[in-house]
Amino acid sequence: MESLRDTVPASAEVAAARERFPVLEQVAYLNAGTFGPLSRDTLRVMREEQERDLLEGRTGLPYFLDTLGLRVEMRARVAELVGADAAAVALTTSTTEGCNIVAAGLGLGPDDEVVTTTDEHFGLLGALAASGARVVVVPPDPERVLAAVTPRTRLLALSQVLWTTGALLPVAELREASGVPVLVDGAQSVGTIAVDAAGLDFLTISGQKWLCGPDATGALIVADPERLRVAAPSYFAQVSYDPDGSFVPREGAARFERSWWSRASLRGLLTALGERPAWGQRHALVMAARCRELLAPHVELVPGGASPLVAFRRPGGDAAELVQRLHEAGVRVRELPGRDLVRVSVGWWTTEGDLQRLLDGVRPAG
Ligand SMILES: Cc1ncc(COP(=O)(O)O)c(C=O)c1O
Repeated sequence: MESLRDTVPASAEVAAARERFPVLEQVAYLNAGTFGPLSRDTLRVMREEQERDLLEGRTGLPYFLDTLGLRVEMRARVAELVGADAAAVALTTSTTEGCNIVAAGLGLGPDDEVVTTTDEHFGLLGALAASGARVVVVPPDPERVLAAVTPRTRLLALSQVLWTTGALLPVAELREASGVPVLVDGAQSVGTIAVDAAGLDFLTISGQKWLCGPDATGALIVADPERLRVAAPSYFAQVSYDPDGSFVPREGAARFERSWWSRASLRGLLTALGERPAWGQRHALVMAARCRELLAPHVELVPGGASPLVAFRRPGGDAAELVQRLHEAGVRVRELPGRDLVRVSVGWWTTEGDLQRLLDGVRPAG
């Protein structure tokens, strides 16, 4: 796993890191749970690659081999992030794609059950529904999850950090206690808390959120690639194939990869990963606690967890209207549909000034 620094950064260190993200000068960026901010250097390398594509063309063996080399580098970097083996990493375009690879690859049918929770994102739920299995939905409470396991349960499908409340689920413990393979939706955990892939069967990663990478980037960790079917093979799936399309799969999880990434995306995400401050995750948690402290007297805070997501309801409701009003005031948060909740994503880049801007927008109607 990536090493995290324990100490609180000096404010000059935070300011220097923030300086790389021009958008932070404009807005209080509190929505990395949807899309993270992009840095100047991430955009610079992406533009360089696009310019190269424009002027030199996307052609020639060296171009192809070099791009495949970037994929190898990317798998190694992602593996390092979550303490996995590079051979267990498949590059995807999103958490949603990762969930679909797993749910389709398990070959489930109506006699199989999958246990999930009421607080999962459609990126996971849609894949479960399409799998053909019976989907058993319980509240996001470890005991309720375990109680729902039957001899027919083939998969636990759970978020490590719930996108609704920011609460944490003990996914590795649930895997161990149930003995059932687990698909962990890591969209809101990788990049926000220390995530260890050890003991998890499948773990999804979104590149565009907390990792501050380009759109349509992500990864899936598959602990044992031999035990998952390649349900939707792309050219990357095989080392050789017959005229009827039957094929010998590649070694490792790379066989599950469904999509080509542009060089711009590859170099963009590598740059973004290289810029992550060692103190970032811990600092975000400190700022999230501060966010709760500031909001507490004015709103109904939803109980969360040790994650940088903070959800609240304003007395009198209408989260959508508040989110819109905050947007106009330069504060970026989101509404959680159907729950009348506002969600704040606190990043390592969040300052006291950002939180005061949030508070100013929340208070008048409170
Ligand atoms: C918990 C969770 N899962 C899945 C997704 C979908 O992520 P992606 O766009 O990478 O598929 C999100 C997006 O917000 C999410 O919060």
